[in-house]
Amino acid sequence: MLNDRTTPLSLLETRRSGRPRDMVAPGPSADELQRILAVAARTPDHGKLHPWRFVHVPRDRRPAFAELLHRAFRERDAAPSRGDLEAVDRLAYQAPELVIALFSPKPSQKIPLWEQQLSCGAAIMNLEHAAHALGYTAGWITGWAAYSPIVRDAFGREPEQVAGLIYLGTPAMALEERVRPDPSQVVSAWAGPGDAH
Ligand SMILES: Cc1cc2nc3c(=O)[nH]c(=O)nc-3n(C[C@H](O)[C@H](O)[C@H](O)COP(=O)(O)O)c2cc1C
Repeated sequence: MLNDRTTPLSLLETRRSGRPRDMVAPGPSADELQRILAVAARTPDHGKLHPWRFVHVPRDRRPAFAELLHRAFRERDAAPSRGDLEAVDRLAYQAPELVIALFSPKPSQKIPLWEQQLSCGAAIMNLEHAAHALGYTAGWITGWAAYSPIVRDAFGREPEQVAGLIYLGTPAMALEERVRPDPSQVVSAWAGPGDAH
């Protein structure tokens, strides 16, 4: 069911995140990745500010990325356990492809920061749908690395923020659907003023 990409709507109905640690080859080719990122850049964006950008970490840069993550982790914990070190390595090397999504707010009198944040999330969602359309899965991770100033400074500069580490690949095992809110929990018809819940 989660593989049904036969119609535009079934594509949207079946996208699911994959676990980056369970992603295997193939990942998107260079051309496919450019296409995925071009779709991400076709995102509603009040004021045409494109308050987001994407940095691909090529495979041959993964060791440098690992070194960066280890340095950043040690800044938080000077005595990491073996398990911590393995987790840092996994973060650096897992999944065939990795894109760092940056929130890149632009100064504006007109467009509040909140709207720029909304656009950034939407751009990443577009990226995930494009990856699914091409037969891959994406996994959006934040966690400590996304909030580390050391990691941020290696990819961008203030006031930019890492919005996510976006891993791309093929799921090693079939993805299972997760619990979704029942539409009645999140959708209603407004009865008029005083109907706020
Ligand atoms: C902003 C944001 C941050 C996330 N950070 C993490 C994370 O750090 N670790 C993780 O396992 N999943 C993370 N996720 C993914 C979610 O936990 C979950 O896998 C995803 O929402 C599954 O939804 P889907 O099945 O609709 O793809 C994040 C998702 C979002 C939107």
